[in-house]
Amino acid sequence: MSILKVLTYPNPILKTKSEPVTKFNQELKKLLADMTETMYQKDGVGLAAIQVGKPIRAMVIDVGKPDPAALLAATDSNNPNSKSQKLIPNLVKFVNPEILEAEGETKYNEGCLSVPEIHETVVRSAKVKVKAQNEKGEEFIIDADGLLAICIQHELDHLEGILFIERLSRLKRELLKSKLKKLGKK
Ligand code: NI
Repeated sequence: MSILKVLTYPNPILKTKSEPVTKFNQELKKLLADMTETMYQKDGVGLAAIQVGKPIRAMVIDVGKPDPAALLAATDSNNPNSKSQKLIPNLVKFVNPEILEAEGETKYNEGCLSVPEIHETVVRSAKVKVKAQNEKGEEFIIDADGLLAICIQHELDHLEGILFIERLSRLKRELLKSKLKKLGKK
């Protein structure tokens, strides 16, 4: 596996609308594995293929999940770890993802490996039902809420060539202008 270069704003490639994946081959498997390693190395919770310059509808997400061992420990009041919210890895690879249903509204202070140093509150659906394929081409459906739902919508935006900063109000974007300009000079 190898660490890939993550493209950053204002690289125009990030505006590309990604194409559906039709070949579930070794090349796809390797790309998803490299994307996963890159995401972990950069402490991200999600990464879309376009962010590493590949305009295909593929993305990896790991927002973690509660550690069942920690949940068990929580029932033992003498355990010093009882209040810890320990997360264990929960990697999901999505190929050709599609939102089937969305409901509710939630706000989260989002960031993006392609827009370093900027964190802003974005409004998204609170729950989504997503259909996708795994790296073998097998279809699966996920009912997501919380951070996973937010992350899925953020990564799906990447597949459409949309960055989270484009989801902000005009005023907020205006306020970010100088910060964004600085990113453009890096
Ligand atoms: Ni992103």
